[in-house]
Formats: sequence, C-alpha cells, structure tokens
Amino acid sequence: MARTFAVVNQKGGVAKTTTAINLAACAALDDHSVLVVDADPQSNATSGLGVERDELEYCLYDLLARPEGTVSPAIDEVIVPSATPNLDVLPATLELAGAQLELASAISRERRLRRILEPVRDFYDLIIIDTAPSLGLLTLNALGAADQVLIPIQCEYYALEGLSQLLRIIALVQAEINPSLTLAGAIMTMYDARTNLSDEVAADVARDFPGRTFQAKIPRNVKLAESPSYGLPAVIYDRHCPGSAAYFRLYWEVFGDA
Ligand SMILES: Nc1ncnc2c1ncn2[C@@H]1O[C@H](COP(=O)(O)OP(=O)(O)O)[C@@H](O)[C@H]1O
Ligand SMILES: [Mg+2]
Repeated sequence: MARTFAVVNQKGGVAKTTTAINLAACAALDDHSVLVVDADPQSNATSGLGVERDELEYCLYDLLARPEGTVSPAIDEVIVPSATPNLDVLPATLELAGAQLELASAISRERRLRRILEPVRDFYDLIIIDTAPSLGLLTLNALGAADQVLIPIQCEYYALEGLSQLLRIIALVQAEINPSLTLAGAIMTMYDARTNLSDEVAADVARDFPGRTFQAKIPRNVKLAESPSYGLPAVIYDRHCPGSAAYFRLYWEVFGDA
C-alpha cells in the first residue's frame, strides 16, 4: 500500500514541484516504485519529469471529469512512464484548470482524487502529489487523498505569511474529509547559509511550526533550476550537486523509516 504525500503551500515559487519530483526520484533510485500525481494545471512536474504534454492522450482532468459511475478512461490509461526508471506520472495539462469548475458541482467533491487513486495504491510504494499555488478544490483533493503533508517553505521575507491559513485548512481537512491526514513537516528551501535571513526564517519556522522542521535544508543551487529543462529531476541530472545531495538527505529523513 503506497504511502501518499501531498506537497502543499499556496504560495507559488517555494519549490513544491522541485521537492516533489526530486523526492520521487530519490525513492525511485532507492528501488521503490513511485507515482507522481501532477495536480497543478501549470503541469511543471509533468514536463520536469520528461513527459511531453502535447503527446498526451489523457491527463488527470479526464479522470476528475468522468461522470459519476463511469470508468473510462481508466487510471492506467492515463498514467505514463517518466524518463526516470521506477517513476510514473499521472500527468497534468492546462486543461486541468477546468477541473475546479467540474469539481464544484460534483458529489463528494473533495474525495474525488482519493477514489481515483484507489486502484493503483497497491501497485506503488510511494505516491507524491504536487499541488497548485492555491487552496482551491484541486489542492483540497490532494489533501483528501494524502496520508501526510509536506510543506516547502522558501527562506525569504514573508515566508511565514499564509502558513497559519494553510494549517487551518489542513485541520479542516482532518476534521471533515480525511481524518488520517498528518503533517509530516516543513522543508526549508532556497536556503542560503551565508545570510542571516535564511537562519532567521529557519529559526522562526522551527519555533512556530506545530509539527517538525526537517534537518535537511535545500540550498539555492542552479542545477535544481536547470534540470527540468532536460526533463530530469536534479538528483538524476547531476546527483552530486549540492542541491541533489540535500534532497537525498531529505529523502532519508522523510522516508528513512519507510
Ligand atoms: N533550491 C533551489 N535553488 C535554485 N532554484 C530553485 C530551487 N528550488 C526551486 N528552484 C527554482 O525556483 C522556481 C520555483 O520552484 P518550483 O519548484 O517550481 O516552485 P513551486 O512549485 O512551489 O511553484 C523554479 O524555477 C525552480 O527551478
Ligand atoms: Mg509547482
């Protein structure tokens, strides 16, 4: 039975996608079978894993938009292999933006993704859901489907802004939609050990965060930003760069007990 993680922060640009695809690739390199679910219409996880959006027959939208009771397309018709062995993708395209509307009127609309993933849960060891920079229905569906939440936090001014709203939403999901959801922890990203700011943000998060902050901090590293243009996670593209090394440390911290 796959452990399912949602990578969530309603801010854009905090390294949700970078974290999702690199943790997924670390697990794949560690011989686990992994599925990345791209729940963001911007579909950066899809393209960053080497999947050509233009060549896709289906995407997550087609599963979310299936009328209640219909089974076509089946999830295995939608999942595609990535350029990385052991790592599959349930891809997104821009079309997914329409899902917010489709979902709005659906029955049990926050549990759609959970039910969609049910047939493949036993097939994968790990499912990682990348989410959009919003707390809309797609992200609620990701939280509804997950066992644990990972929150990347960019070491910048205003890093903590919005965090209390996010924690309230998580509490709401725990109460109303998915009682088994737990908070895995916060991940400090784009950390720059040379600046006081990074240390201050990390200290603030460690103090205020009602879960835990992972020890592994992800440094600013251009390789992490470059690798998606090659359709590869950084841990595959350049596994020895400082960013990759940090993601491997994070992987062992998050999944070491798996
Ligand atoms: N540690 C890092 N160092 C340098 N660039 C990074 C790092 N993490 C992410 N980036 C880059 O920052 C941008 C935002 O990251 P991304 O993962 O797309 O964030 P999100 O999914 O939260 O919007 C991307 O261009 C990404 O390549
Ligand atoms: Mg993203």
